[in-house]
Amino acid sequence: MTTTPDRTLAMELVRTTEAAALAASRLAGRGDKNAADQAAVDGMRYVLDTVAMDGVVVIGEGEKDEAPMLYNGEHVGNGEGPQVDIAVDPLEGTTLTAKGQPNALSVIAIAPRGSMFDPGPCVYMEKLAGGRDVADLLDLDRPLTETAGLIAERRGKDISEVLMITLDRPRHQEQIEAVRAAGAKVRLISDGDVAGSLLAVMSDSAVDFLWGVGGTPEGVISAAAIKCISGRLVGRLWPRDDAERQAALDAGYDLERQLDQNDLVKADQCLFSATGVTDGELLQGVRRRSAGGATTESVVMRAGSDTIRRVHAQHRPEKLSSMPGAGPGFAIS
Ligand code: FBP
Repeated sequence: MTTTPDRTLAMELVRTTEAAALAASRLAGRGDKNAADQAAVDGMRYVLDTVAMDGVVVIGEGEKDEAPMLYNGEHVGNGEGPQVDIAVDPLEGTTLTAKGQPNALSVIAIAPRGSMFDPGPCVYMEKLAGGRDVADLLDLDRPLTETAGLIAERRGKDISEVLMITLDRPRHQEQIEAVRAAGAKVRLISDGDVAGSLLAVMSDSAVDFLWGVGGTPEGVISAAAIKCISGRLVGRLWPRDDAERQAALDAGYDLERQLDQNDLVKADQCLFSATGVTDGELLQGVRRRSAGGATTESVVMRAGSDTIRRVHAQHRPEKLSSMPGAGPGFAIS
């Protein structure tokens, strides 16, 4: 049995993030992030079982007892295609969606069985990401202000033109102030560091680099995307407290080690798909049409061939009605 996710799988994969985005978008702006997340999970799960693969969820919605669908270890796919690991975040930006704010995505990544990093007990990771031209400068052991200066130098611009993107969290305050004091600019995002990482590595974005402590699952998913579009992400596990630190050490994790995208997704071949839920800098969100249909915008990428496709899809009303949470029949008042 092959473990190589081939190119036909890429187009099947995009249907899973479309389904999740279509379902979650119905709950955008309604103030209930759990309902939006559940809708995305239901939408993605429904389509996943039609995909020709023998998949195991490595990065999912948590433990089986707490999350009945897309739990870590769950088998998905129709069982007939390649044996693959799957990382899902059916709704990356639950709060963004609940608040009707931009940049919420639905994302999935697939790689050959056994090649994706299992974060174990570590919920968070410190991350640094940037484009291919600054890849060698990304080092979590170097002061961030120095890295910002080196990036300015490499890109032939003044430090005042360097832009760091980071999650707006109290745990980042000291570094945010230091980077600003060094002369660089900081863009604060309330959520969504997968989108932040992609903006950091894309050559046509205003963002120079991403830094910050965010979800480890999001780190693995970002790594899969970065393997497809080049650039670099380095991450280091960041235990929240002594108990988590001890649990990670007991499980054999090296908490000093900087892991890059090739440690987080070891295989050369992988696939990534993202669909916009709400409008954002990367992708347009779901648009409902007056006749009852909807349009989605996605990006689907394949490492190995370095193919990146933007997919604009129109979904007819009758198709939406057959998908969990996506059609008019599932509207909430
Ligand atoms: P959710 O969509 O699960 O709410 O995650 C959003 C997110 O902002 C991620 O992009 C990020 O990695 C993580 O949460 C950061 O965690 P926290 O909100 O606990 O700082």
